[in-house]
Amino acid sequence: MSTNTQAKTLVPGRLYLVGVGPGDPELMTVKAVRILKQCPVWAVPTAKNDGAGASSALNIAQGMVDAQGRDIVRLFFPMKRVFLDAAADPSLLAAWQEAAAAVLTRLDQGQDVAFPTLGDPGVYSTAFYLLSVIQEMRPATHISIVPGITAMSACSAGQGRPLALGNDVLAVVPAAFEDERLRRILTDLDAVVLMKVHKRLDTLITLLDELHLTDQAVLIECAGLPEERVYTDIRTARGRNLHYFSTMLIRKKSVQVQP
Ligand SMILES: C[S@@+](CC[C@H](N)C(=O)[O-])C[C@H]1O[C@@H](n2cnc3c(N)ncnc32)[C@H](O)[C@@H]1O
Repeated sequence: MSTNTQAKTLVPGRLYLVGVGPGDPELMTVKAVRILKQCPVWAVPTAKNDGAGASSALNIAQGMVDAQGRDIVRLFFPMKRVFLDAAADPSLLAAWQEAAAAVLTRLDQGQDVAFPTLGDPGVYSTAFYLLSVIQEMRPATHISIVPGITAMSACSAGQGRPLALGNDVLAVVPAAFEDERLRRILTDLDAVVLMKVHKRLDTLITLLDELHLTDQAVLIECAGLPEERVYTDIRTARGRNLHYFSTMLIRKKSVQVQP
């Protein structure tokens, strides 16, 4: 009997960027649940570099799939603003590279890795920063993206308010950036979703008051979660310490049913 002493070529694993929706585990897609179940490694984003930081994406994923027995790799993504028209902040880039290297190590061992991410990977998610760095470091990496339900969709559905209808033009804006562009967007467009509003609310209320738009706005904190809070009069949220999961919907027009 001959013994095959040749080492088998290891097939690298596949990376899945998985949108897990805005918080309610029932808003995860069937595909997201299946992929999370089948991956032995979950690489999860956290905003703290202490090796045990909380991860919203992990919490949501665990609402549907048992994480027991899986290799949970915490990847540190600093909460810093990213300006796409400038080179990335060196500390951010270093963190992304470290995260990418940790994922590549597991993929090189032949393991499939799931990266659960809040909402949809294509909307202000760290998932695409990870993807860009991995593609740069190892262009042949097999990557699949699983879309997820966005926070704005959950806010819209929960409030029975459409995001955009008919000839509405919709803008989705991260409110953490400068006000002048936002002022123009709010003036020119019909419907606006403001994300990342939690630290900017008072300034935003002042701007919306100035533009006479305050009464067309609704603020949703933790949409779809037990701690959900809705401010139909956004002025009542002034001075509050809002949760990071806070989104504002603004729509100027409504459907006219009278001839
Ligand atoms: C980094 S972005 C992630 C967006 C996400 N990828 C998506 O598809 O909705 C984080 C922002 O999403 C919004 N968000 C996420 N979950 C939310 C929730 N359950 N309720 C309200 N807003 C939420 C907030 O505006 C928060 O600041």
